[in-house]
Amino acid sequence: MPKSVYVFDAYGTLFDVNAAARQASAEPDHAALADHWPTVAANWRRKQLEYSWLRAVADRHCDFWKVTEDGLDWALEASGLSDPATRERLLALYWELAAFREVPEMLAALKARGAKTAILSNGSPEMLKAAVHSAGIAEFLDAILSVETVGVFKPNARVYDLVEEHFECKKSEVLFVSSNGWDAAGAAGYGFDTAWINRASDPIDRLYANPTHVLTDLTTIPELP
Ligand code: LAC
Repeated sequence: MPKSVYVFDAYGTLFDVNAAARQASAEPDHAALADHWPTVAANWRRKQLEYSWLRAVADRHCDFWKVTEDGLDWALEASGLSDPATRERLLALYWELAAFREVPEMLAALKARGAKTAILSNGSPEMLKAAVHSAGIAEFLDAILSVETVGVFKPNARVYDLVEEHFECKKSEVLFVSSNGWDAAGAAGYGFDTAWINRASDPIDRLYANPTHVLTDLTTIPELP
């Protein structure tokens, strides 16, 4: 039976986290990024996530904006880039990341059949609100749930609890969707059916649970059984 609640990770799943470095690299003021932007984008994301996990394990929570800044500073230094204007431009672009092209139609299809839709993200409420409005998808979302409510990052179970608390639903009614293999595994281990969006044809993460579905993009989410 199709689910009644569809919950999406934000960064990397609905929003293209590489878009900031890609776009800045094409701007004359940030030409130094031209040869480096894929490495900067990959290191930025890797460090942002590592810092989120380490802070969760160490019980040293901060908001996602702080680990986003810290991850970028590590990535820029690793590539020998030090222009403060480039740093500021990349951070500004993170507030207006493009959504993947299939996102509006996919969300509209879920809403058209009466399903509930939400974001569940490490992002701070302010970051998520800005990204949702910039991408023009606010009208298709019933809720934007942030880990800031519980003060710990994914994949802590208290984060996934927010879905049942908000929608007053059972785990079995939820499909959780993430492009992050570790997040899909975390939600699967928690007890949600999950879809892992494997855009890069990565190997599956060897963790404590596997996703229910593995897809290459979000297009077929509304058709899943
Ligand atoms: C998020 C990160 C994990 O949106 O992508 O929660």
